Amino acid sequence: QIVSAKNENLLEMICKLLDEHVPYYNWTGFYLMDDEGMLVLGPYVGEPTEHVRIPVGKGICGQAADTKLTFIVQDVSQETNYLSCSPHVKSEIVVPIFRNDGSVFGEIDIDSHYIAPFDNRDKEFLEWIAKQLMVRTVHWDEFKRRIKIAYI
Ligand code: SME
Repeated sequence: QIVSAKNENLLEMICKLLDEHVPYYNWTGFYLMDDEGMLVLGPYVGEPTEHVRIPVGKGICGQAADTKLTFIVQDVSQETNYLSCSPHVKSEIVVPIFRNDGSVFGEIDIDSHYIAPFDNRDKEFLEWIAKQLMVRTVHWDEFKRRIKIAYI
């Protein structure tokens, strides 16, 4: 089953599914790059954040957009270039989403209230989601299969 990303709720659905199924994903959202190179807060599930516009290079989100690499911080207290959204947050993973031309479309950002909860399965799964979004279709059956394999 393939659902088109033209459905505006797609990013919201992904946030909700990740939030519901992964107990250590405590803030799950998207930042989308605007024309001026700013990361703008998109759909999310979790506490409201004051960081609604983040310049490239700033914080963990900005660094992931700058380097175009998945950025995992297992203990945010050790990271100097970090924008805190909530004192409860202990760790964070940010996965860039690319356009076909290789430019950054946006990113998946997940905060956790646990120290060092992320491993390679999180990275692979979230990068797989980012690739699905790049081609603007999500294979939901595979999504559900992967979330079960990864977390249950
Ligand atoms: N902590 C992020 C800012 C966004 S919030 O996690 C929602 C950062 O350092 O870029």
